[in-house]
Amino acid sequence: MREEKNNQRPILPLDTSTRDVNPTAPPVHVNSTSNVHRGTHLKQRLRDSTKLIAPLIVVYVLISCLQQHYTRFRFDLPVHRPTGICKQEQPLRPSTNVAGKITHALKSDDFAARAAEALGGAVRVSTEVFDGWGLVGSDPRWGNFSLFHTYLEATFPRTHASLSLTKVNTYGLLYEWKGSDDTLAPLLLMAHQDVVPVDPAAYSLWKEPPYSGKLVDGYIWGRGSVDFKSGLIGILLAVETLLEEGWTPKRTIILSFGFDEETSGVQVKAL
Ligand SMILES: *[C@@H]1O[C@H](CO)[C@@H](O)[C@H](O)[C@H]1NC(C)=O
Repeated sequence: MREEKNNQRPILPLDTSTRDVNPTAPPVHVNSTSNVHRGTHLKQRLRDSTKLIAPLIVVYVLISCLQQHYTRFRFDLPVHRPTGICKQEQPLRPSTNVAGKITHALKSDDFAARAAEALGGAVRVSTEVFDGWGLVGSDPRWGNFSLFHTYLEATFPRTHASLSLTKVNTYGLLYEWKGSDDTLAPLLLMAHQDVVPVDPAAYSLWKEPPYSGKLVDGYIWGRGSVDFKSGLIGILLAVETLLEEGWTPKRTIILSFGFDEETSGVQVKAL
């Protein structure tokens, strides 16, 4: 209201908006009228408050998400399922005897030690990948994936004896565990073998060396222990354990492990 009293024209259509509409137009010379000053001031204030509010909204959303996540895990509450496009399926709960036995085995200290050793060993085989490497076959720096495969074969012998394995573009791993019922759609489990390089200058900042794979106070240290050798070893150890228990799948299970997820991802397109 005050503005209307002082000025004939409304504040908003500023000269700057003309430039927004036509980016090729030369900058418009602006006389320092009170109108423009006040408009600019208003815009600046708006911008300042947006700067403050935007991070607050982000923090709020993050906290809400985490809260929901943990509440669900800690208390095993039913998942809130909004109706609509992203329908969530009911969780599948294992019901067979063998799953019961395995669930019991998974809680043992022996199994925890075995899992920690399997993951620690995987971390110790460094599979760093760098941007700018040449293609597999022409650049020998991909060679460590052979060492990694040897490690997997030694650590999961039953898996390698029972599943068929196709190597895609030399280092991509595609396992197939044939199910008894061909009419069921297969289950696909994915992970990647490569890790982000560790900057040598940052080595000293690590509490434990980045390729030690050491278990300290319940944590396995090293590159890949979270992203994503944990997933890869978790999947293979699950398969190995199920095979040890004599379990066979009804539905075909496919495991797909790429090797350049942390760079371009182009070399495992075929996977
Ligand atoms: C390959 O493995 C060796 C021995 O662990 C390691 O020194 C080297 O950094 C690794 N190379 C890559 C590219 O990960």
